[in-house]
Amino acid sequence: MSRASLTLLAMILLLLSPLPPRHLTQAQGEQRPLLTVKQIMNAIVTPTTGTIWGAYQLQTDAEWKEVENAALAVIAAGDLLTAGGAGAGETEAAAEADWQAFNGQMIEAARAVLSAVEARDEEALSSAGNDALYPPCESCHQQYQAR
Ligand code: HEC
Repeated sequence: MSRASLTLLAMILLLLSPLPPRHLTQAQGEQRPLLTVKQIMNAIVTPTTGTIWGAYQLQTDAEWKEVENAALAVIAAGDLLTAGGAGAGETEAAAEADWQAFNGQMIEAARAVLSAVEARDEEALSSAGNDALYPPCESCHQQYQAR
């Protein structure tokens, strides 16, 4: 057998192999989540909500942009939390209606932050942050954070 056909054979065998590497199947997103809820909270939710809640006397476009990006990242976190997390019991928790409701409220609140940013309205921003964004954190933690 020529070298070229050996290579071809190897490639075909690889394509036919029934078990692709695990990290590839996970990256396709329909398997289990890659991050635990705790990691999502600490890596995404906490720093970005810190930016939103700390926003004060915004002036430059760059300052508003930072808040906008933070709100987008909260939505991304919400998107991940729709499936729960990689920790024990976290996809099961996310299957519950309450979890989806609290998560949906957090996403809606982040959308209200985006509207406030678009309007350059700091009062709307602070009410979206305090009245809409904070309550779902509390509700979800009361019900799902282990004490
Ligand atoms: C849909 C449910 C849900 C929502 C909404 C939610 N969290 Fe969480 N959060 C959790 C759960 C569950 C834990 C506990 C994770 C653990 O300990 O494994 C947690 C833990 C945390 C922690 C502690 C992390 C640690 O190291 O122990 C912080 C901080 C946190 N959340 C911040 C927030 C903030 C801020 C918001 C709102 C903007 C929020 N979370 C919204 C479910 C939620």
